[in-house]
Formats: sequence, C-alpha cells, structure tokens
Amino acid sequence: MPCPSKSDDLVFFVNGRKVIERNVDPEVTLLTFLRKNLRLTGTKYACGSGGCGACTVMVSKRDPLSANIRHFSITACLVPICSLYGAAVTTVEGVGSINTRLHPVQERIAKSHGTQCGFCTPGMVMSMYTLLRNHPQPSEEQLLEALGGNLCRCTGYRPILASGRTFCVESNGCQQKGTGKCCLDPRGNDSSSLLRESDICTELFAEDEFQPLDPTQELIFPPELLRMAEKPEKQTLIFRGERVAWISPGTLKDLLELKAKHPEAPLISGNTSLGPAVKSQGHFHPILLSPARISELSMVSKTSDGLTIGAGCSLAQVKDILAERVSELPEEKTQTYRALLKHLRSLASQQIRNMASLGGHIISRHCYSDLNPILAVGNATLNLISEEGTRQIPLNEHFLAGLASADLKPEEILESVYIPHSQKWEFVSAFRQAQCQQNALADVNAGMRVILKEGTDTIKDLSIAYGGVGAATVSAQKSCQQLVGRPWNELMLEEACRLLLEEVSLPGWAPGGKVEFKRTLVVSFFFKFYLEVLQELKKLVKLMPDSHHYPEISDQFLSALEDFPITGPQGVQRYQRVGSHQSLQDPVGRPIMHLSGLKHATGEAIFCDDIPMVDRELFMVLVTSTRAHAKIISVDLSEALDLPGVIDVITAEDIPGTNGSEDDKLMAVDEVLCVGHIICAVVAETEVQAKSATEKIKITYEDLEPVIFTINDAIKHNSFLCPEKKLEQGNVEEAFEKVDQIVEGEVHVGGQEHFYMETQRVLVIPKAEDKELDIYVSTQDPAHVQKTVSSTLNIPINRITCHVKRVGGGFGGKVGRPAVFGAIAAVGAIKTGHPIRLVLDRKDDMLITGGRHPLFGKYKVGFMNNGRIKALDIECFVNGGCMLDDSELVTESLILKLENAYKIRNLRFRGRACMTNLPSNTAFRGFGFPQGTLITESCITAVAAKCGLLPEKIREKNMYKTVDKTIYKQAFSPETLIRCWNECLDKSSFHSRRMQVEEFNKKNYWKKKGMAIIPMKFSVGFAATSYHQAAALVHIYTDGSVLVTHGGNELGQGIHTKMLQVASRELNIPMSSLHICETSTATVPNTIATAASIGSDVNGRAVQNACQILLKRLEPIIKKNPEGTWEDWIESAFEQRISLSATGYFRGYKAFMDWEKGEGDPFPYYVYGAACSEVEIDCLTGAHKKIRTDIVMDACCSLNPAIDIGQVEGSFIQGMGLYTTEELKYSPEGVLYSRGPDEYKIPTITDVPEEFNVSLLPSSQTPPTIYSSKGLGESGMFLGSSVFFAITDAVATARRERDTVEDFTVRSPATPERVRMACADRFTEMIPRDDPKTFRPWSIPIA
Ligand SMILES: Cc1cc2nc3c(=O)[nH]c(=O)nc-3n(C[C@H](O)[C@H](O)[C@H](O)COP(=O)(O)OP(=O)(O)OC[C@H]3O[C@@H](n4cnc5c(N)ncnc54)[C@H](O)[C@@H]3O)c2cc1C
Ligand code: FES
Ligand code: FES
Repeated sequence: MPCPSKSDDLVFFVNGRKVIERNVDPEVTLLTFLRKNLRLTGTKYACGSGGCGACTVMVSKRDPLSANIRHFSITACLVPICSLYGAAVTTVEGVGSINTRLHPVQERIAKSHGTQCGFCTPGMVMSMYTLLRNHPQPSEEQLLEALGGNLCRCTGYRPILASGRTFCVESNGCQQKGTGKCCLDPRGNDSSSLLRESDICTELFAEDEFQPLDPTQELIFPPELLRMAEKPEKQTLIFRGERVAWISPGTLKDLLELKAKHPEAPLISGNTSLGPAVKSQGHFHPILLSPARISELSMVSKTSDGLTIGAGCSLAQVKDILAERVSELPEEKTQTYRALLKHLRSLASQQIRNMASLGGHIISRHCYSDLNPILAVGNATLNLISEEGTRQIPLNEHFLAGLASADLKPEEILESVYIPHSQKWEFVSAFRQAQCQQNALADVNAGMRVILKEGTDTIKDLSIAYGGVGAATVSAQKSCQQLVGRPWNELMLEEACRLLLEEVSLPGWAPGGKVEFKRTLVVSFFFKFYLEVLQELKKLVKLMPDSHHYPEISDQFLSALEDFPITGPQGVQRYQRVGSHQSLQDPVGRPIMHLSGLKHATGEAIFCDDIPMVDRELFMVLVTSTRAHAKIISVDLSEALDLPGVIDVITAEDIPGTNGSEDDKLMAVDEVLCVGHIICAVVAETEVQAKSATEKIKITYEDLEPVIFTINDAIKHNSFLCPEKKLEQGNVEEAFEKVDQIVEGEVHVGGQEHFYMETQRVLVIPKAEDKELDIYVSTQDPAHVQKTVSSTLNIPINRITCHVKRVGGGFGGKVGRPAVFGAIAAVGAIKTGHPIRLVLDRKDDMLITGGRHPLFGKYKVGFMNNGRIKALDIECFVNGGCMLDDSELVTESLILKLENAYKIRNLRFRGRACMTNLPSNTAFRGFGFPQGTLITESCITAVAAKCGLLPEKIREKNMYKTVDKTIYKQAFSPETLIRCWNECLDKSSFHSRRMQVEEFNKKNYWKKKGMAIIPMKFSVGFAATSYHQAAALVHIYTDGSVLVTHGGNELGQGIHTKMLQVASRELNIPMSSLHICETSTATVPNTIATAASIGSDVNGRAVQNACQILLKRLEPIIKKNPEGTWEDWIESAFEQRISLSATGYFRGYKAFMDWEKGEGDPFPYYVYGAACSEVEIDCLTGAHKKIRTDIVMDACCSLNPAIDIGQVEGSFIQGMGLYTTEELKYSPEGVLYSRGPDEYKIPTITDVPEEFNVSLLPSSQTPPTIYSSKGLGESGMFLGSSVFFAITDAVATARRERDTVEDFTVRSPATPERVRMACADRFTEMIPRDDPKTFRPWSIPIA
C-alpha cells in the first residue's frame, strides 16, 4: 500500500472557488478555517459542539453509488477540514449578498422579522437554503426537520418559520392549525370581533413583494470536482499536521491494511462522537483513518429477509433507506424499520444526522444511543471485515457492553449492518423521553420486541433493551426469558414490571441523576408497549375473527398510545394600524424591518469576533478555580510559560490599578469563592496555544469551610449578601385570624442561563500614544466597561473608547460581566503591549458568568371560602452566588413586583439574597419578577384548589379593579390590565375551551390537558432617577445625510431601528437618509446600561430632543424657502454657519424608593398583559405539548409593531424555557455540569405552541413616553408561566383522578421528570426508593 511520507494537498471548493491547502492541519475544523483562513465570518461560533446550528453550512458531494450530487447541511464546528477533500462548501456568503444579489431565503427571513440579534441567522439561512436545494417546495414537516437543529434565543422562532413557510407547497394563507382555513376567514370561530376591528392589522410583511425562488440561479457543483469524483484516484492521501496525521485510503484493501498497521487508530466518519470526545475529554489520536472514499462502506442491499446497510451511510441516508423499504414492504415485515425511523426523526438534528454514520453510531455505543436498543432487539448483525477476511457478530447485549469476546478486533472495521425483516405476530416498538421533544439526548430510551405464538397471546420470544440507565445500552435478558410462555395480559404486565425493575437497577447516585424518573420510565415504557401490542392484536382479530380473544383496552387508556406530533407554530399577530392621516414617509408605528436584518441574513453584519485580526494580536484564555471555597496556596506558571507561543500569564499582581472591589475582585488573589472563579489568564499567539497552556498551570488549594451551595444551607449559616428587603401593608397577623382558611406552601424556581448565542467577547487594542485604548466589546453597558478598565489600569476614562456595533444577545448577561473580561484583557494588552482578543467558549461562558437567581419562597395565604384573599405573607430567598453583583437590586425589584396584578389589603413581602459558593448570579430579563411572581400565582392556584374554584375565578376576584395604590403606595389605574385580561379571555375563547379540556380529561386517563390564564402588571425602568437619563448626538452632513448616535446598544431588540424611526419622524426625512454606525463612549459619554425595558424610550427622547434642536435651527431657512428640499436647506444652513450637529438629552423620569418607609414612586410606568396557554401532558412519560397560547399585551402606541411583537414572542418563549426545560445541574462539589446545548435545553422550534397568537392591545392611554409607546423588552418573560400553570393544572387533574393528595410542591422548571413523578400512579409506586441519607447524589438542587 502506497503511504507517502509527505503531506498531500487538500483540494475542495468554498462558494465556487477552489481552495488548495498545502500542509493542512487535520486538527483544524471547517469553522476555524472559514473564519480565520478565508475570513468568511458569516458562519458563527456559538457552542462548538454541534448542538446549536449557528455554524451551519452546506456541503455538496457526488454520491459514488447514485452518481447524484448530494447537498446536505452540517455543523462546521465538528467537521475536520480534511474530511472535505473533493467536496464543495457553501457558506452564507456564497448564497447571496446585499451588494450582489440577495437570495430569497435571506430576503424573506429578514423581511419576515426573523432576525433580532442576528447571530443565529446565517445558520438558519443555511439550513433553509440546503432544504430548498433539495426540495424547492418543501413540506412543512421538512421545514421543521431542517430547522430543528438551529437554536435562536431571541425570536421565539415563529417569524423564522413564517419566512420558511413562504416556500412551502401548501403556503397559501395563514392556515391556522393546518386546516387550510385562514384565521381571518369570517366563517372561522373567532372572527366576529376581528371584523369589527378595522383599525387592526394582522400582516407584518407583504409576501407578494418577495422575489421568487429560482433554482437555476444557484451555484453549480464545480465541474472539476465532478471530474475528480467520476474518476476517483485510488491512491492513499495523507494530510500531516504537527501532531496528527489524517490518512484517507482510496480502496478498501488499503484501508484494511492501514487498520492492521495502526489498530489503535480510530476510523473517523462523521466525527460527531470522536470530535466532542477530543474536545471535552482530551482524547488524542495521532493517526486518523478516514473511510470517506471507500464506496463499499456505503452499499445497501435488499434481500427477501432483510436489509444490509453500509456502515459509512449517514444517519440521514439510513432514514431515507428505511423509509423507502417501509413503503415497499408489507407492514408486518417493517416493524423494526418503523421503530428505527421513529427515533431517527428525533435523534439529534438534521445537521448531525447528515454527518453521523451508522457505523460510528453503533461502534460509539453511547449509553444514550437511540438506535442500538432497537437494533439489538431487532436481532441486527454486524458484518466485520479485516485483512483476514469477513465475519459476523450479533449486535447484542455482549457487544453493547463492550465484552472483548463479542467485540471487533482492533484490526477489524464494521463494513455493514444487517437488519432482518420482522414477521407476522412479531411486534417492535421504540420509546424515548428527553427534556424536550427534539434535539435532546434521551433520558431513557428503549427498544422492545415480542413474538407471540401464532393466533395466541403466548409469548414466544421477548427482547427489551434500554438506553440511559447504565454505562451502556442495557438488555433485560433475564426478565425476558422468564416471561416467555406467559400470556400477554395484566398479570404478565405486573410480573414484567417487577422483573424489569429488579434487573435494570440504577443506584441512587447514578451519573446523570433523575434516578427515580428513569426507574419509572423503565416500567412506563413497558406498559406502553403492552398496550401497543394489545392494540395491534385487536387489529389482527378484526382480520381473523375466529382467532384468540385478547384483553380489551378501555377507551380511556388508549391515550397512552399516541406520541405528541412534532409541529411548528401557526398563529396571528394583531396590532393597531397607524392613523390614515399619518404621512407614508413617517415610519413610526409601522412594522419596519430590523435595520440590520438583511446584513444578518447575508452574514455581513459584523460582531465583535468578526473583526479581522489586528496586527500583533494575541489571544487570551482564562484560568478558573476548580474548587468552590479554598485558599490559593500556590500558582505555578512555569510549565505553561515554557510552551511554544505562550507570551505571558496575567495575574492579579499585574493589575496597575484596582482589582475590582473588595467583595467583587476581577481576579482571585488568595482565596477562591466558587468553581469558575477567575484566577489568571494565559496570553498566547493562538487560541489553541493559550488553551493548552491553561492545562499546564498548576494551582494548589487548601479547602476552606463553610462551603455553601443551596439556599437552605445559606439560611442555616446566615450567609447573605445584603440586608433583608421588606414591604408591608395592613395587618397581616390580624387578618390571618379572621379568614376562613389558611394555606401554606413552598415554591422553588431554578436558575436560568442567558444562553445568548454570542458568548462574551472583547478585543482590546492598545495605542502607542497617551495610553489610549480602543475596546470592541459585546456589552449592554460600554460605559461600565470603560470605567472598570480605567480603574483597573489606573488611567483616566478619557483615554479609553469602547465601541459596540451590535451584540449577539444580552438578556441582562452582558450588563455587568463584560467589564470584568474587558478589564482583564486590557491588563493583558498593557502588560504585553499587544492587542488582546478574549472570546469565551460556551463551556467557560456558562461556567463563569452566572445567570438568573434561583429562588426559594414560602407563602402563607389567608382567604375566605369565596376565594377573596385577605392576607398574604411571602418570604423568599434568592441564590446570589458568591458576589453581590446585582443581587440586592434583583431582590428589591422582586419584592416590589411581587403583588403582580392583585389587590390584597394585608401583605408582607420579605426577600434576601443568599451568599453561596457558586458563580455570582446577575441581571436577567425580568430582573427577579419571573421568579418571584411565580410564588404569587402559585398562591392563587393553592387558594383555588382549597375553595374548589377555578384559578381564573380567584384571579379575577382579587385583581386590581379601580384606580389604586400599590403596596409601595404608587398610584396607578388598572384599566388596561383589565382590558388585557378580558381581551385574552375573549381571544382565547377561554371558557368554551376550558369545557372542552374538561371533556377531554374525562375521556383520557393517561393524557391530561390543562389551561391557565395569567394576568400581569409589569413595571418598566430602574428604581432610581439617575438611571433614566439618556443622550444622543445627531450630525447632519452637507449632502443631507444624517448620522445618529445615542446611548443605547443594539442587542437585537431593534433599538437602532426605532431610533431612526424617531429621527425620521422628527426631521421629516426618509429613514434611508439616516444612519447609525455604532454605540461609542467617545460620541455619547456616561451612558446607562441598555436594560430594564426602557432603552428605546429614554434614548428615543434624547434623539427626539437632538432632532428638534436641529430643526429649530433650520426653521428660519425652511420658512424662507418652504418649497426647497432637505438638501437645499442643509446647504444653506452650512453656508449660513448654522451648526448641523446637536446633542440631545433626556433628563429621565423621577423614580425613587424609600425602603425605610416602604414607600416610593419607583417606576415610570407599567406594562400590562395577559396570557392564556393550553397544554397536554403525557402522564406516563412527563412529556408535554403546548397546544395554544394567546397573549394580549399593552404596547400602547407601538413604535414598531413587528419589533414589539418580536420582543413579546421572544421573551415569552424564553420564559417558557425557564419554566419548563432549562435546568442547571450542579455536582455536590458545586461544579456546573450543564455547560452547553447538549445538557442545557433552551426551547427549539418545535417547543413553540402549536397555535401562538399575539395581540398588541389598541392604545387607550398616553403614558409620558416617546410617542406614548411602551417598552416591551422583558414583560413577556413572565407570561411564559402560563405554560407552567397549564402544566400544573393538568397534573392536578391527573392527581385528583388518581386520588393522590391535591397539594404538591411547585417546582420550576416543570420538566418531564417532575411532571412524571407528580402524576403518581401504580408505576411510580412500584419503583424502589432510596434513602437520600445513604448515598451522595450526582447533583444537588440549589434553589
Ligand atoms: C449534537 C449531537 C447530538 C446528538 N444527539 C444524539 C441523539 O439524540 N441520540 C443518539 O443516539 N445520538 C446522538 N448523538 C450521537 C451521534 O449519534 C453519534 O455521535 C454518531 O452517530 C457517531 O457517528 P460518527 O460517524 O460521527 O462517528 P465518529 O465520531 O466518526 O466515530 C465514532 C467511533 O466509531 C468508530 N467507527 C466509525 N465508523 C466505523 C467503522 N465503519 N468501523 C469501525 N469503527 C468505526 C470510530 O473509530 C470511533 O471510535 C448526538 C451527537 C451530537 C454531536
Ligand atoms: S457552533 Fe457549531 S453547532 Fe454550535
Ligand atoms: S436572532 Fe436568533 S439568536 Fe438572536
């Protein structure tokens, strides 16, 4: 076998251009290559683990067997560059651009308002583009499948899907609920009120303006690659890097020879298993063997008794092959294939399925593998090949357990997999339950197969295999053997459950946790299988009337059988039309597209890390503590400093000025307070060098006591960050004595990770002169970064300029923390004299930065039997982590907002921020409101249960009704609150649907529906006057073009778009004459963080002020020449020496709070809203489906309804994530486990309610804001709790039916685990329970 020692040239194409890489490094991924080598920065890094889709690109290859060109999406962060030999890559830049030609996908996603921060947008574009290359008129299902692996943290997905739907075959009209009927059809249910609302608009974009899709315009597959593929060279290619050699043989013979020579070398197929292991577990392989060019591994052969699929086929190809076979064969033969297909729909994402190979999947033997349990029960055989020849081994429990006797020999490879047909009287099923429906690893999955003796119910053969319940797929062989010969009936079911729980035993401390849930799933899945088989038998009886009689399934139980379908959202967005008198040019109140929308979609929008490398730039990587509370004994940097490329290691000693504050140090000095506490930072020539150096830094610690993680422990140790915050009114104790009933309860709300798609990043460029620094940073508060850098470096603020072009999502997480990263990078820049780039990887970002405060609340509520609440006492604690940060402010805000929409005469609210040894928690959209108010709403639910009334009745009864004062004595009118509530009841047809839900619940035992409607009074702004000031700077240039600058930062919330709308109206010129370049501390100084939903309002007032000043100056000129053009006036003004630049200023609202007196006027105004959600839960698995959500939000006079609806939808979905799937897991040592999209599940496109309607309430007031608009950035977050309460409503119904006590502790998020365990039944009773004192759990709850 030829095996040259030199390195071959890697040849592939990117966007139609040939790339020849000499001396390519096999360790480099396509993402790095695109971004760093080709400077194609449209493809984004957001997770690096294949889990978010931000780096999606399209790969095209000629299929050697079919000779067709295959286009498929992949995640570039997992693709080794060497695997692309002979392939064509298309990135977002190759699809279209603003300067040349926009692709319809790009145009439509932008114009449909599918971009906010825009960081996910190129990935979305590429997923859709690839879909359209294969299916120019895709089905809705295909569209959902294509987008299922792309996460978006801003939009809530609805508008993205809306843009994709414009390409779908059935895209005509809005087709609400897939009925094909338009929601505005007068014959629809809900139309009567709509038709009366002639000033209400439901169109956010004009579909008829979109350019058509023309497939002939696409880039062709490069002819050179086609020629290469048609006459493939057989010689072995070798790409040698510094540490790794990539060997790609051209023939099977050569591959086998190489495998014999390098038995320990892995076969690198999709790299979706090897790649993450190399990254996270540090696995290193000096030689990688690529089977990509071996066509034998992609062979498929059909025989009369089964199907053989090549190990090199991707999982996406396997899906197509199986689907084809299912369509060709009778149903009885395809049981195993259909079971595999079921899991192939939810296994990972389309991108991963396109990359991952069947062989890689099987050989990886992950304990969570979705396919191995089915292949095992389906009696699949592995066809192995080596130089010695071929042999077969069964894919059975021994192989899955990795027993050497049942495994591949080191020199063998897997050539193909044989999967036999099923037969008559054989039934195969697959089950899986994950944190969410799609793109999530299963907590438990299973493959089950039974063969019954023909015409009887006697078990002839039974196989069951589970994933997720051990280190490998577990086969329940013994149980199955014991059940052979038993009839398929209830007695067998009981016995099977007992045996399975005995055999598939999980210790209490099992890795991954959720032990009782998993045990319950083991038997719940078997129960489902039992019913499924009975159901199938029933069909057979119908066909063969004189066959055996089988047990009947009662209709009520049939609901156990169906899985929730994967669906995408449909819905209507309603907003108030602008008045007919408004000029067409005036953009205020119109759904104007995000200013950067098209640039987001083409990848031309520049984010911090897209700035090209600057001269002499170095990379910084942070080193953090591995201990939760310890003294630093020593830090040994020597080995790290000796490594090639390492320039320096920055420690606290290098700080010329102050190291943060005493309680909140930038870098630890001699004590660490949490795992993730920053200790020092490595500066090296490249990121790879800096990262490897961090592993060589030796830190010795001495553990300190106490170590506190939980709120309970903090209370025990009296460990608090600030004094208690308290508000009181009336006389709570006295009121408790007079009420009919009292309920006490607890509420636990978990924390939340911001999961902004763009991780924290900063580029600091020191200048040679006057100690000046330019800082490009992704922040919500550049002035804070500037100030912190100034005090850290001990140089005046005026030498430091912070620039923010745009931020890839903030949600509060980029208010305080960026200053820390900016300051440490600046110390590095000053010390080394080089520009420093610091880009946190996802893992570090999640570990270091903290998030939403977890909360524990206790309530005591006193009420009359009619539901009137007379007294409410709430005490709550938030887990602040190890430093103060915003914890005191969050506690204050939480206490101030706790009453929500209710007038309760006697109230006592107390709150404290606990100090624990966890990373410091910080600001997060809603600032305490989403956690705190969950206690209030839980009280309402508890009162309703005790009174035997519906929660909505209790809500109505206790809601503010007339002009009143809040607990802190701020006067307000609840008129709009009540309007929102009534509109929401009406728009959601609440009462009739409530009855339908009850009917459904009576008929279904294993599925329950739940509904909830939640009112909201949300206060906007900061509780301090000085925080409401804002400034703007407006320049008019001599050509008439205008440059606007203001103090707000573009985080995706569309503030720049709104500011130009304001300027356009004020100056009476079109938006096209206006421009915003960036936010910079040099143009607008001393700015306030863009936060608290008030940014557009206060900055809008400042822009308005600046424009009015300018207009005033122009007035005499305009008067003199009223017929002149804008350009004429500007020219004259310049000639007349009139300044064409003005600063606008807004002094802000008065806001204060006197905590001593418990009184104040802390908020400029309120936003009201209401949301109604309906869900269905599966009581056997804990899964839920969001059926419908209706939101009515008071936007007053929206500046831009598209942006405002986007904010409402996006924050609602983020809130829904908080309350349902987003779960942070900590080890008993305080280490955060959930550090990426694999372990931490933010909502995906299929989590959005099936029907999702948002209405902006027509204005009825005139708040003192810019054009009477309201800030909607945060308020929707809490409305996500309507989903939570709908789930608890469904759970309560299940518990009532099962005679379980009605009360249960409310814990958010309502994950499948919690829902399943709350729906206690015979299966939860069966499982063994552990005494928590007898083992150390895998994870600890910190709320
Ligand atoms: C984001 C993400 C989400 C995922 N979600 C899921 C999920 O929901 N469910 C699930 O089941 N899995 C999931 N996975 C795992 C995925 O299914 C596996 O990583 C994948 O199937 C491995 O295939 P591969 O071709 O990428 O293997 P590679 O990483 O290329 O190789 C893996 C191993 O297989 C060996 N190997 C490969 N081919 C052969 C061969 N022909 N002969 C001998 N040895 C071979 C290699 O030597 C190596 O040791 C997920 C993975 C990612 C990255
Ligand atoms: S960055 Fe590649 S999938 Fe997230
Ligand atoms: S627009 Fe999708 S992540 Fe921001």
